[in-house]
Amino acid sequence: VSAVWKAPAKLNLFLAVTGRRGDGYHELQTVFQLVGLYDRLRFEPLSGDRVERVGGLPGLSPEEDLAVRAAWLLKRRCGRREGVRIHIEKRIPAGGGLGGGSSDAATVLFALNRLWRLGLSAAELAGLALELGSDVPLFVHGRNAWAEGRGEILRPIRLPRRWFVIVDPGRRVATAEAFAAPELTRNAPRRTMAGFLRGGPDGNAFEAVVRARYPEVASALDWLRRFGAAGLSGSGGCVFLPLTARRDAEAVARRCPSQWTAHVARSLPRSPLLWRLAAEERRHWGVAKR
Ligand code: C5P
Repeated sequence: VSAVWKAPAKLNLFLAVTGRRGDGYHELQTVFQLVGLYDRLRFEPLSGDRVERVGGLPGLSPEEDLAVRAAWLLKRRCGRREGVRIHIEKRIPAGGGLGGGSSDAATVLFALNRLWRLGLSAAELAGLALELGSDVPLFVHGRNAWAEGRGEILRPIRLPRRWFVIVDPGRRVATAEAFAAPELTRNAPRRTMAGFLRGGPDGNAFEAVVRARYPEVASALDWLRRFGAAGLSGSGGCVFLPLTARRDAEAVARRCPSQWTAHVARSLPRSPLLWRLAAEERRHWGVAKR
């Protein structure tokens, strides 16, 4: 069994829906922040044309699992006949708007591209990523981003170092349903990355929809707002609060009501996938570490 690959979570620091498209998707604008809360994946070579999964999300069949689907997609596109057993240790809450399934899928694309020496470029991986889901390209891109389109048009953005308290109220929000809600604001004015960086806008288009349908998420948001400017990530149900100091984040997390789960995670400047690639390249070229 090969080394462990860490798949990070994301938060949406801001999210607006600016239009509805003809293909069943919406145009959005969002800011993706990568955070240090990780699922852990390992890859074991198998003989035969098969993909197996060990671990992962209880109740999610392998056929529905984006990580397994990512491996099959790669096998089909590259005509590979070897097998793989994917070991997945879940830590990122599922259905929480933290992108856990998408991050696992991106990690599979990235890792198998290396392990099977497929030689796919970043652009080719990004194309496969988008076939799997709107949030997958972000994790292949591996940097914090201002995103538009379905979420796949990504521009790197510099975000301050911070600590996040992430509260999981234990409610899974179905993303497709949240997008389909009649009361969702779908015609938000388009904003600029520069405007966001100047100190606004923030907020999340799904907040009103999710608050009305998931009172538990509304309670968690209200509780976290006692400590600062908390927000909803993606279509929820996880909520988060950015803070400067780790100690403050830990203090808030300790006070989290027992029916919910609190995590403390640091902001990441980039995904561990990119660190790993850089480290491999240094080894390959024999460049001394500075
Ligand atoms: O792309 P993904 O499979 O993650 O999207 C799940 C569902 O969320 C889509 O089927 C669509 O209904 C909705 N969605 C959307 N606009 C986006 C992303 C997702 O309407 N930009």
